[in-house]
Amino acid sequence: VTARRLDLAFLGFGQVARAFVRHLANRAEWLKDVGISPGIVGAATRRLGWVIDAGGLDPSDLLTRSESGRGFGPALTDGPTFIHDLQSALGSALDEGRVVLVESTLLNIGDGRPAIDHVRDGLSAGAHVITVNKAPAAFAYEELAALAQARDRAFLFEGAVMDGVPVLNLVRETLPGVRITGFRGVINSTTNYMLTEMERGRSFDEALTEMQRRGIAEADPALDVDGWDAAAKTAVLANVWLGARMTPHDVARRGIRGLTTGDVEAARSRGRRLRLIAAASRTGEVVSARVGPEELSEDDPLAQLDGQQNALVIATDVLGRLSITELDAGIEQTAYALFSDLTSVAVRVRRTPGSPPSALRDRTL
Ligand SMILES: NC(=O)c1ccc[n+]([C@@H]2O[C@H](COP(=O)([O-])OP(=O)(O)OC[C@H]3O[C@@H](n4cnc5c(N)ncnc54)[C@H](OP(=O)(O)O)[C@@H]3O)[C@@H](O)[C@H]2O)c1
Repeated sequence: VTARRLDLAFLGFGQVARAFVRHLANRAEWLKDVGISPGIVGAATRRLGWVIDAGGLDPSDLLTRSESGRGFGPALTDGPTFIHDLQSALGSALDEGRVVLVESTLLNIGDGRPAIDHVRDGLSAGAHVITVNKAPAAFAYEELAALAQARDRAFLFEGAVMDGVPVLNLVRETLPGVRITGFRGVINSTTNYMLTEMERGRSFDEALTEMQRRGIAEADPALDVDGWDAAAKTAVLANVWLGARMTPHDVARRGIRGLTTGDVEAARSRGRRLRLIAAASRTGEVVSARVGPEELSEDDPLAQLDGQQNALVIATDVLGRLSITELDAGIEQTAYALFSDLTSVAVRVRRTPGSPPSALRDRTL
């Protein structure tokens, strides 16, 4: 199989991006076998600056520069400027549709920017965009999906919900014609871990500190404990599956701040468990969505989740309810979301005229 070159440019190069770069190296043989040859042509972050080289950058050098804090190059003006510079440097590769912008900047729960701009500008420049940031699909799914379609590029964000577990891919690729009427789940690892630890007698603060130490809590932990992360994920799923045009601010939201070890233990003594539940449903044209702590009876499938585990129960018109569970959540799993999105892009690129054949299964996108 002749490998098809894909040029990756990274906007954001934190722990998820680095784990993805390592995963690409670990799967180099597999990628070659299925006809994908990824190379890195650019990287930028606020503190590390930016670098672009159409000829290719050394992944291990980027990892070292990022981890040591030595930096990539000149100071970054902003993401849109980096994308503009990519356009000048990569011209024909963008026109040929073999550039992938890997967006992994942080969630801004205020208005979703600048991540929305990164996706919009990336697509407009001719790049496919894969992101683990929830903001673009949580705030601007309809606009960005329409732009991607108009530009004939992919806009994929599997890592926005339940890390690398194929939630969005599962529905898109394997449930043709099935209508989703609602969903209910535990989709924030940090709060589920905290509630589990509080059931064991640890304090709210101790449990949160542990999640921050392990890099699981959001950079701003208020996003987790006040339910914003779950609300952003709920908005993503409601926008994609239920056709809602909502933002995280439209989700009725309560977090777990203020819950004490006593509250959690009291629920336990009643044979129930407190869990942060995210749910949305459609009635006619109206989609309603909510996030908040709920006391679950012990036979509820969502009450079985401990620690960082996540699960989503999807209500459908044809298949009844489906449940998908993530028993092991973490950075590697999130990085895998980028990997699986990249292979989806590769399948798509392969279909363009003149592309060499690939061993990848001919999936529908
Ligand atoms: N960690 C997880 O398990 C997980 C799971 C699912 C989804 N996610 C999502 O994945 C994304 C990345 O998470 P992470 O754990 O990798 O975070 P991280 O280690 O803090 O990395 C974030 C990266 O984005 C850069 N960045 C932030 N704002 C930027 C901007 N305006 N312009 C350019 N670069 C910017 C940061 O650069 P500087 O450091 O130079 O500021 C850093 O390189 C987040 O959106 C997060 O919500 C994470």
